[in-house]
Amino acid sequence: MSNATDTINGCRADLGMSTGDASLSSMTGEPIAVAFTPSGSIVVQSREPAMLELSTGERIQLASETREDTGHALFHSNSGGFIACASCHAEGNDDGRVWKFSEPCVGATPRRTQSLQTGLRGTEPFHWTGEEHDFPALVQDVFVGRMSGPTLAPDQMNATLTWIDAQPRPALSPPADLAAVDRGRALFADTARAGCASCHNGDHLTNNQTIDVGTGGAFQVPSLVGIGSRGPYLHDGCAQTLRDRFDASCGGGDKHGMTSVLSDGEISDLVSYLGTL
Ligand code: HEC
Ligand code: HEC
Repeated sequence: MSNATDTINGCRADLGMSTGDASLSSMTGEPIAVAFTPSGSIVVQSREPAMLELSTGERIQLASETREDTGHALFHSNSGGFIACASCHAEGNDDGRVWKFSEPCVGATPRRTQSLQTGLRGTEPFHWTGEEHDFPALVQDVFVGRMSGPTLAPDQMNATLTWIDAQPRPALSPPADLAAVDRGRALFADTARAGCASCHNGDHLTNNQTIDVGTGGAFQVPSLVGIGSRGPYLHDGCAQTLRDRFDASCGGGDKHGMTSVLSDGEISDLVSYLGTL
């Protein structure tokens, strides 16, 4: 490129686009995005301070107040094992993956990454089998035990949980068929038929219990908040779509809500409703 010698304090060298001899460490803040202007200058956006730095030397302050947040910093920091919470839970969400951990407590059982954008406080215990009785226990096991991180102080753990719970809930597409959503809502609550709300209830759409619903063991009743925005479903990710959750070979059959009595149309109604949660 014509601007091959452009640098912002050596930014190009760090991006592997030139052999400049300076380094990014002399930038004021933490770089979070890079772009080119139409004339070919580089623009780096940083946080703390929020600023645009151009390879022309120009600096544009974006906000004067600090947004420094211990919870954000810990969630995104390299624990020491070259991994961060955010590696799998980007912005508190989930990576859509089914992991196989080799540790004795979990075994080699597949485990779908859980979304954290459901409102965690009040939904203890955590993890699919509920083995983490609260957030500090989870951080100790995961951050220290599995990710080789340092032990965190109680206020650091609290700040991390506060940051996670402050993340916006996933944006959902508006439903195509409002009447279907209404029929699905009624079925969801109907204890004589689908009976979903006997377990998926309350603000977080979970009663926080660990129950065997025929899916291969006892698992935490997951929150259904934002469920339409993520797949695959169930602890092992066997359901690629919400409709697949009603396939008895994966979703547990009648131990998991009375679904065998439902017509195809009723299952579609339930799927429409689930997509709005
Ligand atoms: C390698 C990917 C990965 C990393 C890194 C990771 N997680 Fe997870 N997270 C998962 C998976 C997979 C599960 C489900 C685990 C299970 O049930 O055994 C999970 C579950 C959770 C849950 C349970 C949610 C619920 O509703 O029960 C919380 C809370 C959580 N993670 C927080 C964290 C925090 C905090 C960190 C950083 C200290 C972190 N995770 C790092 C993959 C990851
Ligand atoms: C007896 C309690 C119970 C009832 C009733 C129940 N569920 Fe569940 N639900 C669970 C449990 C436990 C899981 C986790 C099972 C697993 O992952 O293997 C689950 C998982 C799910 C999931 C996947 C969530 C995810 O994050 O992957 C969906 C969707 C779901 N249920 C919808 C429903 C619907 C719809 C009904 C009614 C037809 C229903 N459930 C009835 C306990 C229940």
